[in-house]
Amino acid sequence: MALSREEINKFDDISDYIYKNDRDPSELIEVLHKTQELYGYIPEEIVPIISQQLRIPVSQIYGVVTFYSRFSFIPKGKYAISVCMGTACYVKGAQDILEEFSKELEIKTGETTEDLLFSIIETRCIGDCALAPVVTVNDEVYAHFDKKDVKKLLDDIREREEN
Ligand code: FES
Repeated sequence: MALSREEINKFDDISDYIYKNDRDPSELIEVLHKTQELYGYIPEEIVPIISQQLRIPVSQIYGVVTFYSRFSFIPKGKYAISVCMGTACYVKGAQDILEEFSKELEIKTGETTEDLLFSIIETRCIGDCALAPVVTVNDEVYAHFDKKDVKKLLDDIREREEN
């Protein structure tokens, strides 16, 4: 999915930041953070721009993006479904929940549906262990989630989207 010229121009603010910091290559992580925040992912078209401005090889940027799970080359869906895989959630069936989302949406963890509506993400403990197993959709927390709730949750969101 290619970015429009307009979307690429949005990067100008980050370029300003880079130049204000004398194109310091040690700013790479911060620049990637800002990029991920701006677009919701790291668009491949932006990588050569970062490379040129920070004077870092493209291959090195790819290495960093793929190393850190908080960065992604894949656009996130409008609804980012995160399944907590921390111990408390795991022992209460988080794996089954994750698989059920995968089955229903026909995508794997870390992927986004073609209509860009849903992504499935696996997270570590989010600190709500008393509510295990926990699923979050964007910022909304669903406590004591059950595999049986998967279909209903997706149907509810789809219905909301249609109206
Ligand atoms: S293990 Fe899931 S919230 Fe802590």
